[in-house]
Amino acid sequence: MPPDTPATTYGSYLKIDELLALQQRRSDGPEHDEMLFIIIHQVYELWFKELLHEFDHVMQLLEADESHRSQHTLKRILTILKVMVAQLDILETMTPLEFLSFRERLDAASGFQSDQFRQIEFLLGVKSEPAISRFADGSRARAALERRYGEPTLWDAFLRYLSRERYAVPQSHRDRLVTAPVEPSPEIQRILVEVYRRDPKNAELCERLVDLDEGIQEWRYRHVKMVERTIGSRQGTGGSSGAEYLRQTVGRPIFPDLWANRSQL
Ligand code: HEM
Repeated sequence: MPPDTPATTYGSYLKIDELLALQQRRSDGPEHDEMLFIIIHQVYELWFKELLHEFDHVMQLLEADESHRSQHTLKRILTILKVMVAQLDILETMTPLEFLSFRERLDAASGFQSDQFRQIEFLLGVKSEPAISRFADGSRARAALERRYGEPTLWDAFLRYLSRERYAVPQSHRDRLVTAPVEPSPEIQRILVEVYRRDPKNAELCERLVDLDEGIQEWRYRHVKMVERTIGSRQGTGGSSGAEYLRQTVGRPIFPDLWANRSQL
């Protein structure tokens, strides 16, 4: 290292000055809780970034038939998801009136417009073209969503892995259109029953995917409950019907076959 290069410090490595300059409140006074609102959303976006980083890794590991390491990475993803669900407790300390004190300053801003959340959905097989077109042409968000839209989902990577593990995954599933929703399939359910009965290693992997599915549903459930207690049945700032729209997304499984096979075991 040249003699006049300053040593790396905590602040320079983590860019603390830049980070601390990013919480810019629109109110300046009685709306005390706006700071919490900004910080918690920024923290979520950082976790979304980390989740995407780990999901990309899981996909690569599955493609390389590294079952053990895939499970290890899924475990990390699940641990992060649990922390993300728990963080909603903090926001629930904000009363409806405290939120209303600055809500109008949000204009149309809403988590509905989080491109990283949509990227996670796309990766898990919940894809939609309108979700892409909401972002401006040429923007980072649009490019990221367009890329993920055309990429295989985690379920596709898993089915291809199972096929290499010598399970008779039909060609129509291995080469399925990656933009299509993941529909339940009796053929795949039969394969999964076989996995659960005879193949502990891959049954464990299936269980981690169920944990993930349950974890996402848990986040959705807790988020809608928080929305109900904070804004009741008001419309969302993102323009949806609010809690009513969110309730429709709760309890919709990501990997339906992994739930259906349970009643066949
Ligand atoms: C007081 C706190 C919050 C309220 C009142 C609230 C309200 C809402 C509402 C009403 C929607 C429906 C879309 C719309 O805006 O019309 C929504 C969607 C969403 N919110 Fe929140 N939210 C809150 C906190 C959070 C936090 C902390 C996150 C973390 C990133 C978040 C992430 C999301 C996401 C990702 C969606 C889209 C869900 C989907 O389309 O399935 N929200 N929120």
